[in-house]
Parts: sequence; C-alpha cells; structure tokens
Amino acid sequence: MKAQPQNQRLIPKTDSAIQQYLSKTPASKEMYEHARSFLAGGQSHNARFYNPYPFYASKARGKFIWDVDNNRYVDYWMGHTALILGHSPAIVTNEIRKQAANGLLLGAPNKYAVELAELVSKSVPCAESVRFCTTGAEATMYAVRLARAYSKRKSIVKIAGGWHGYNSALAVGVSYPYEVPESAGLPEEEDHLVKLARFNDIESTCQVLSQNSSDLAAVILEPLLGAGGVIPADKEYLKALREQCDKIGAVLIFDEIITGFRLSLGGAQEYFGVEPDLCTLGKILGGGLPASAVVGRDEILSLADTTIKRPKQERCWIGGGTFSEHALSMRAGIATLKLLRARRSSVYGTIGKLGEELRRKVDRSFSEAGISTRTTGAGSLFATHFLRSNQEDIKNPQDVVMTDQKTMHKYCFALIASYGIFFLPGHIGAISTAHTATDILRFVESTENFADKLSSFKK
Ligand SMILES: Cc1ncc(COP(=O)(O)O)c(C=O)c1O
Repeated sequence: MKAQPQNQRLIPKTDSAIQQYLSKTPASKEMYEHARSFLAGGQSHNARFYNPYPFYASKARGKFIWDVDNNRYVDYWMGHTALILGHSPAIVTNEIRKQAANGLLLGAPNKYAVELAELVSKSVPCAESVRFCTTGAEATMYAVRLARAYSKRKSIVKIAGGWHGYNSALAVGVSYPYEVPESAGLPEEEDHLVKLARFNDIESTCQVLSQNSSDLAAVILEPLLGAGGVIPADKEYLKALREQCDKIGAVLIFDEIITGFRLSLGGAQEYFGVEPDLCTLGKILGGGLPASAVVGRDEILSLADTTIKRPKQERCWIGGGTFSEHALSMRAGIATLKLLRARRSSVYGTIGKLGEELRRKVDRSFSEAGISTRTTGAGSLFATHFLRSNQEDIKNPQDVVMTDQKTMHKYCFALIASYGIFFLPGHIGAISTAHTATDILRFVESTENFADKLSSFKK
C-alpha cells in the first residue's frame, strides 16, 4: 500500500494563509493526493515540495505562472532561476518551433552546439574550452573528475552548505548538521575525500586547504551561494582562494550554474573579477531547456579530448550523455545568449537595479514593523532571512541556520497564499526581464502587509 501524506493532519485551523491556500487550490490538493499513488512524494524534485502540498502548475508565460485551479501568480522562482527572460519569450520559442520540425535529438555533432560553444567562450572569461552536458549535477561531477585527472590527486574542498546537485561525489555537507551524511546510499569512502570549508572565512578555509594540500585536487564553490542562503562571496575571499589554489597546485572550480549569465554576462567571475580554472554552467545556458557545460582552461579540458591518443588511464572520460548538445536546447541557448550579449548593459542594469531596490525595501518594510531581517543576494537574486536578536548579518550558511526559518517559510507561503506571488518557500528569488518596477512595488506592498500582520500577532 502507498504511504499516505502525514502533513494533512498538521494543518493548523487557525492559520489564515493556510486556510486561504486550501480554499483556492482544491484541484492542486486533489492532484497531489492522486500523484502520490504514482510518484514517490507526489512530484520529482525535493525542493519543489512545501506544506501542506505544492500547487500544480498548468502553464506559464512572461512573469506569470498559473496553477491547475487557474490561480495566477507573479513568479519569482523563475524555473529554478533559469528563466532570465521570463517564461516562453518569443525569441526563444520561435527557435524551438523551427527546430522541432527539423530533428529533436540529432545524436551527432551539430552546428548549433558549435555556435553556442563560441558564444559561451566569448562571454565567460575562463571559457577557453567548452564541453556540453545536460544537467548541473552532471557538469559538477565532470568538473571534479577533470580536476582529479589533471592534478592526479583525490581530495576536494567544498563549502559547508554549498550545493552542486545530486551527484554522489559532491552530495556531502550540504544541509545542517554538515557532518551527517546527506542520504542513505552514499558510500562513506567517497565522503571522506571531501573536506568542508566555512564560506567567507578566509582564515579557517586556508587552514583546511593547507591541512589537505598534498592531496588537494580542487576547491569547488558557488561564488554566490544559492541553496545555502543566496549569499555572495566577499571578493577578498575569492581572491584568497585563487592565491591558495595557485600555491598548492589545486584546481579552482566556480560552480556558476546559478550565477552564469545571471550576475553579469560573464557570470560571477566577471562580477567579482576573479577567474577560476574551471567553471560549470547550466540553467540560463539552455534558455529554459536542459543544457549544462563544464568550461575552462584548455590545458585541463584537453584531457577530455579523446581524439588525442593517450593511454586509457591518462584521459578523462566526461563526454557521455545521450541528450548532450540537444538541438532544441542549443538553439534556445543561442537565442538567449545572443539577446543577453546584444542588450548586455540594459538587461543587467535593469534587473540588477530591481533586485537592489527589492532587497532594500523588503528589509525596510520589516524594520518599520520592528522585525529584523537581512535580504541577501546580488544583482537579480534575493532571499530574506529573519535574524535572531544576537544576529546582525548573514555571511555564510551557518548564519542562516541560526535565523528564524519558520518565519521565513511563513512569509514565503503567505506570498503564495495571500498575495499571488510565487516564491518557493525557503529558496531563491530571481527577477527576470519580464518583471517591472511595478511588480517590485507590489512585492514590497505585500511584504509590508505581511510584516504588519506579523508584528501585530507578536504584540
Ligand atoms: C549551484 C548549483 N549547482 C548545481 C546544481 C544542479 O543543477 P541541476 O539541478 O541542473 O542538476 C544546482 C541546482 O540548482 C545549483 O544551484
């Protein structure tokens, strides 16, 4: 017999946002209950679930997403931050339509992959060479393998609270408590090759690096932590990592699955002015379709060039993937990158300004209601953390763990239930070119409303 959802019993009758959500989403509720008979947990991405059940989407366009009850929301989750141009921009869908009549999966080297690789190489500072794959988890897995092959070492340093997708090599120290394995089924032997460092803490990170220097293949980090709290790195922290990696002979990998083409055209490496040896790209790269890449220095990527004759143990196998260089994804990516390149300053200037305004005004709304928050992020990315009385700032995931996460979830859920704003509870907010200053104003007004209710409830 299938397990029945436990959470239904936990719905508090007094919570007005929950009651509002239940009354406006009966079809989603029914679909969730039905889905559990066929899908473990009712859907297929852990982060997409929230209590009492997620709404089930029916369609999306521009800045909007609709659920199966036909409720419309302004979407700030934007396809896991991938949709920088909003949902279904014509410039992308036209290309997809053209390609749909000319072969979905070509299964051969194709001209679109060459064109996209050239655009990537011209846009991302470290991208001397490019290899495409399909998901972010695959790209980070390949980046680690390349770094190990190149350095002939095994250990990896990653950030405690950093997230690089569900590949086994990096599913270590993601959620608190970081020392406890993330999942059953992950061999401890592999975990032991991964050492954890504290984000934005130069001293302790350098210590971890020097303690492991003789076997250190790579340091991998998101230059702006996504799932770990939407926290930008200090530029000095990235510079220190660059220097230490050079000194030790370890490969510096930036996981730019979120930040690539998002913080700037050249990603976080351009935004912060620190260049890694390798970087991983995904999300925006495929223009809303599945595509990812591992890119970086020629000298390292050339290990993946199997046309160069080498003994088997000296090459690096990373080029699998039935769906790699998928024609639809390549064309969607080309259309997206071409537009971002052509309108570079207006796109990043506009969404960055909206992001800055949102972060400042959300914190001001809470502050005026006597609630202490820190809306972190950079450019068009944001997340609001509810600070405890002994907290002043959010510099790393350990700080996030200390915040009032229950109120954060309540806030995000209230945005969905009461204000028609979709912001996946506990996750990243992303602004696209489809959002306007008026949307940000509404977001702030909704926040003011929530903050007033919260503060009167607390009195
Ligand atoms: C920084 C980062 N790396 C890797 C991944 C994994 O990407 P994917 O979900 O495409 O496997 C994600 C996904 O959100 C991510 O945020």
